[in-house]
Amino acid sequence: MKQLWKTGAMALALLPLAVSHAFAEDAKTTTNAPEAKYQSAASPLANVEMYQDINPKAPPMSKAEFDKARQIYFERCAGCHGVLRKGATGKPLTPEKTLAAGTDYLKVFIKYGSPAGMPNWGTSGELSDDEVDLMARYVQQTPPQPPEFGLKDMKATWKVIVPPEQRPKKKMNNYNIENIFSTTLRDTGEVALIDGDTKKIINVVKTGYAV
Ligand code: HEC
Repeated sequence: MKQLWKTGAMALALLPLAVSHAFAEDAKTTTNAPEAKYQSAASPLANVEMYQDINPKAPPMSKAEFDKARQIYFERCAGCHGVLRKGATGKPLTPEKTLAAGTDYLKVFIKYGSPAGMPNWGTSGELSDDEVDLMARYVQQTPPQPPEFGLKDMKATWKVIVPPEQRPKKKMNNYNIENIFSTTLRDTGEVALIDGDTKKIINVVKTGYAV
């Protein structure tokens, strides 16, 4: 038994020598065919600039995919889920929730929606299967901070539509302004003003976006 063990140890000790010898041999000859094939078979993503999330668990996305998804999110999802994905009409989509749910679950939810108010983005034809996959990966990334829109930026957008001297100095209608309420017409991006006394719509104001 002792003898056998010794022989085994010998063989093991010789192995590194044998291996390094084989490598030395190889280095002299040109690279063998399979190796050359292997090295030239670049990954399709090798030259694509990747998006690097601060959370290593976030699924990989190229920079271009991330930018596209961010745009789709802003235009189609932020109204219900919030710009920072903290939730509003829709549930929060923060990474601790979405990473736990996983890409496959998220894809199904985004594609088919739910009776509780999540639109069926895939089956309605609004988003392609690739876009559904993109959004499922996107909502697992750390929400990007929106650029700050400060007072200076706001002032730069200021347009005088009616100059102060031309503005009415007294009430110009008979509405009971103590009893007027507004309702958001979510899907058309409008707000209706309703007279509480007559329950009639006074005006529909185009606000331009959903919630
Ligand atoms: C009209 C409002 C609305 C819009 C717009 C919307 N969602 Fe939702 N979403 C919801 C609601 C409400 C829920 C919760 C539904 C439920 O629990 O059944 C939800 C749930 C989800 C869920 C599942 C969350 C979970 O924890 O189970 C995902 C993922 C999701 N939304 C992604 C998106 C994406 C991506 C978009 C944009 C392409 C989007 N949503 C746009 C309302 C919306």
